[in-house]
Amino acid sequence: MFENIKNYLQEVEQFTSIKSDEIELFRIKYLGKKGILNDLFTQFKEVPNEQKKEYGQQINKLKQAVTEKIESLKETFSGENDKNSDLDLTRPGVPYSLGSRHPIHIIRNKIIDIFKKIGFSVADGPEIEDDWHNFTALNMPEYHPARDMQDTFFIELNPDRVLRTHTSSVQIQYMEQNNPPFRILSPGRVYRNEDISARSHCMFHQIEGLYIDSNVSFADLKHTLQYFTTELFGKSEIRMRPSYFPFTEPSAEVDVYWGLETETDYRITKGTGWLEILGCGMVDPNVLKNVNIDPDKYSGFAFGMGIERIVMLMYQFGDIRMFTENDIRMLQQFSQEI
Ligand code: DAH
Repeated sequence: MFENIKNYLQEVEQFTSIKSDEIELFRIKYLGKKGILNDLFTQFKEVPNEQKKEYGQQINKLKQAVTEKIESLKETFSGENDKNSDLDLTRPGVPYSLGSRHPIHIIRNKIIDIFKKIGFSVADGPEIEDDWHNFTALNMPEYHPARDMQDTFFIELNPDRVLRTHTSSVQIQYMEQNNPPFRILSPGRVYRNEDISARSHCMFHQIEGLYIDSNVSFADLKHTLQYFTTELFGKSEIRMRPSYFPFTEPSAEVDVYWGLETETDYRITKGTGWLEILGCGMVDPNVLKNVNIDPDKYSGFAFGMGIERIVMLMYQFGDIRMFTENDIRMLQQFSQEI
């Protein structure tokens, strides 16, 4: 009987483990309900009286040894050590592949960098807009026919809430909250209720520019845009065609001379060599009045361009839908770009 307990004591002394599940099994083996110690305690009544004292001492000693062992093992190998016990630092790592930037964002960043060099900073605005910011304050009052140019997603009526149809709404947001002078650029997503095809989508991106100061002239606008096309396309020849936008007066559309050297040049410029890239103009005094800026003191220009068109041009995309298909084979082709 005492021999038995001695053997157990020896086993307890020799036991060692760094794994919590092994230590737990050891605890159950000795201290569990059907464990060794409970067994030994039940046998107590069968022990002859003269040996009871020693037997009691022995099993208490065993119990103490087991408890101390468990505590010391848990202490040594607790926490992090325990979890990392299987760590093999020589194993090769799990490779994870780096993603690449979306082409829309690559070009957006390029455009931002170009304008940053001449003092423009980025301003943000909401994609869900009210009627005032998207239309009315931009000199397009209710029932103005110019509203029909942009098929709109209305998400609430009376008062109207819309998915913004252009980034021009950020002009109003910004001018309401800041005092001139300022030069801002607002890139972002815009929405129009258009059929999806290879050339058009109901969701696309624009970049808006706004420059308000004293004595800003049309010549400043032209020079700024010329700087921009030279930086982005390496082409400095532009032409400004008279156009109409309710929020600018005068307004123009800008074409860049792309050239007619290759067959692709013929195709994308429809044989003219010219490519339309943006709309612009001098900010209409009414717009300035709408945001409490004195049009006698300040003037400025604004411009807006679609990013998809430019990306399609620069990377020779044939279908606008590819931008939102999430096809990793397309995205991977841009992994070298930043
Ligand atoms: N918001 C116009 C559009 O979506 C683009 C535009 C034209 C923006 C002229 C401007 C501008 O700031 O001056 O078609």
